Amino acid sequence: MSPSRRVLIVGGGGREHALAWKLRRDGAEVLVAPGNAGTAQIAENVPVAATDMPALVRVARDRGVDLTVVGPEAPLVAGIVDAFTAAGLRIFGPTARAAQLEGSKLFCKQILHRGDVPTAMFREFRSVAAAREFLEAREDMPIVVKADGLAAGKGVFVCEDREAALAAVESLGSDPQFAAAAKGILIEERLDGVEVSVMAITDGRTIVTLPPLQDHKAAYDGDQGPNTGGMGAYCPTPFVDAELLADIEARILVPTVHAMRRAKVPFQGVLYAGLMLTAQGPKVLEFNARFGDPECEALMVLFESSLLDLLDAVADRRLESVEPPVWRAGASVTVVMASAGYPGPVEKGRAIRGLEAAAALPGVEVFHAATKLGADGSVLADGGRTLAVTAVGDSLARAKLLAYSGVREIRWPGAWCRKDISDKATAFELASSARAATVSTDGQGAAE
Ligand code: AMP
Ligand code: GLY
Repeated sequence: MSPSRRVLIVGGGGREHALAWKLRRDGAEVLVAPGNAGTAQIAENVPVAATDMPALVRVARDRGVDLTVVGPEAPLVAGIVDAFTAAGLRIFGPTARAAQLEGSKLFCKQILHRGDVPTAMFREFRSVAAAREFLEAREDMPIVVKADGLAAGKGVFVCEDREAALAAVESLGSDPQFAAAAKGILIEERLDGVEVSVMAITDGRTIVTLPPLQDHKAAYDGDQGPNTGGMGAYCPTPFVDAELLADIEARILVPTVHAMRRAKVPFQGVLYAGLMLTAQGPKVLEFNARFGDPECEALMVLFESSLLDLLDAVADRRLESVEPPVWRAGASVTVVMASAGYPGPVEKGRAIRGLEAAAALPGVEVFHAATKLGADGSVLADGGRTLAVTAVGDSLARAKLLAYSGVREIRWPGAWCRKDISDKATAFELASSARAATVSTDGQGAAE
């Protein structure tokens, strides 16, 4: 790989910092727009917003960028890939139409239906009144109410009963933040099970499935509290073994990519499946059209071969010609450190201490999710999810220990995190080995 390859990463969170870290290791020179205080240390930040399409096209053109990689969904849904392609620039990500897989839950359901991909049963409504009428006529049961469009992760209400579902429908109708997203309303059966994230990189024909992860969406330990963008992740998750991953690829990822192509909306980029592992098998909760955050951070530290080669191959539609990626043995854990108030309004501008001490721990990488540089060069907290402290280890237990050792070095007033990232995996592995021990003891007994 020539060291002069120049990559532009669009976005400014932990996912983009991790992508910048990895692509630099792959030999690229990296620009990030707009980036954060963390990306400033390893790449060049360009002060352009992730949604300012004309300015991003200018940066890519003027700076001789070979490949642009888009982190967040908003520019994808707004058509950044179409704008770059029209300008003759190479870019990794889906077109605006293909990004509707994330941008419109109704479009997503139509594709799932075409591909015969398992998902929750649902009904679609075009008005609050129609949704209300449907709920009132139905038996009282757990229900999920969703706004059709992008609502920054807030347009989903998982409801215990009809009363809560009716309240959710009313709030979609009355709250101005949902006005655009709630032009369509979905009412879905609630799925029960374990939630996992499986991502694949695809050029629209070939897919490369990445190791499975588990996010931690609830704010507090034990999955309590409000839903967030994700308070931590670990990789790989034992809830998805090799056999189940092959099943997910065959029954969910491949049929979705084919259904998109048949619908004349070929999907290139990261296909992210949010899955519920139900008693009837894995079912799709949602698709995202990008790397998950914080999943991306946990993934990048395990990625040994060149990510740049894969992204290049997708941009050139020749993914079938690339060797499958190589992953480091062991596991990774990412712990999100948040500012006081998250997921509500947060206090910004506090100086963060201990970043160097944390990063000096072997196996620990501190990815910045929402930081900026202060006038005196100090790093300031600049949002809710502020840091994604990530560690690799030979085992999940070791990775967890290291990640929390990193967290302990870092402080700013009001900083907090979940203390139980990856514990579900440990409990699951203990239960599995206890079951295996029982089976082998039984086996021995029978042979005697
Ligand atoms: P979404 O944005 O569609 O992924 O929904 C956000 C979160 O709501 C998911 O990560 C799940 O935890 C939960 N959720 C969404 N749909 C369902 C469903 N049908 N049953 C149970 N939980 C759901
Ligand atoms: N971690 C969930 C997401 O990126 O949507």
